[in-house]
Amino acid sequence: MRMPRGGRLFLATCLGSLFVLVLYFQSITNPEPDVKTDSRPGKSRRSPLQTLYNGDQQLELLAAQRSLQGRRELLEQACLSHTRKRQVLSPEDLKHLIVDDKHSLIYCYVPKVACTNWKRVLMVLTSDGRYTDPLAIPANEAHVAGNLRTLSEFSVPEINQRLRSYLKFIFVREPFERLVSAYRNKFTRSYNTAFHKRYGTKIIRRHRPEPEREALEKGNDVSFHEFVQYLVDPRTQREEPFNEHWERVHSLCHPCMIHYDVVGKYETLEPDAQAVLSLAGVEGTLQFPTSGKSTRTDGNMAARYFKHISPFYQKKLFNLYRMDFLLFNYSTPEYLSSR
Ligand SMILES: *[C@@H]1O[C@H](CO)[C@@H](O)[C@H](O)[C@H]1NC(C)=O
Repeated sequence: MRMPRGGRLFLATCLGSLFVLVLYFQSITNPEPDVKTDSRPGKSRRSPLQTLYNGDQQLELLAAQRSLQGRRELLEQACLSHTRKRQVLSPEDLKHLIVDDKHSLIYCYVPKVACTNWKRVLMVLTSDGRYTDPLAIPANEAHVAGNLRTLSEFSVPEINQRLRSYLKFIFVREPFERLVSAYRNKFTRSYNTAFHKRYGTKIIRRHRPEPEREALEKGNDVSFHEFVQYLVDPRTQREEPFNEHWERVHSLCHPCMIHYDVVGKYETLEPDAQAVLSLAGVEGTLQFPTSGKSTRTDGNMAARYFKHISPFYQKKLFNLYRMDFLLFNYSTPEYLSSR
């Protein structure tokens, strides 16, 4: 039977909502996954999910896990109190979820939150020994689509099975620090000409009163204020979704529908990454690359950039990113004018 395109889309949407709904209720009524404990000691290895939720984990993990559990509970509560409408997910929404079938892991990648290094680590984990050192993998190679599998590539039953039994983790960052980091990386570095052409020229055309011809053509000198105007302009999201570098984690990873087992933070990247690798049982063979620069930001970059933004735009921007603040327990920045 041939179905019109609309019909097929509708069917896909229904199937999508079905698996997500099942998961959603499971996460509310029964936060402990239904796993069997292996009674033969040391015989078969536990999955990361079993290691996380079973009571007898190694001692050094306990402290870390308590704070991870706190974040998980806070996320769940925030979801309950701040999301009313039930959204519907389709496999297409799972493009940011990277799958490691070998270690039973699912990682939702968020750009500007150490995602290159996580992709490198996952390439090592899934490579069957072809790679051993994450830092030996060039950054651009880590981002090649097809080097890693995403959950959206699987069938609905396969997606369900993985969502139920794999350890799902995500790494987040203070939303405005992440945003400023994206701005600096994409608009103030001369080599990022693709972003200048694609977004910079448009931003300057729309938000600079009397642009020079060269700026209009190159789009390479967008100010942070112009970038903010572009973000809060209702036309921007009407035309297309935000680029993933400034899209909200809430929209990239659907943390109120997908029950993340570990919420790692950029601010505590090293211990949190270590906890994930321990749960995956690879802490002895693999070190998360935390090479200097990325983790050594002073956490105050956003304040310097927001000084020059008017209270009107600050407020609009905060509303735009509010869910990411609430869901991941980031407090309203002190530098935001309270007028
Ligand atoms: C949430 O943030 C507050 C303030 O930073 C902190 O004291 C608290 O421990 C955090 N809660 C969780 C569950 O992480």
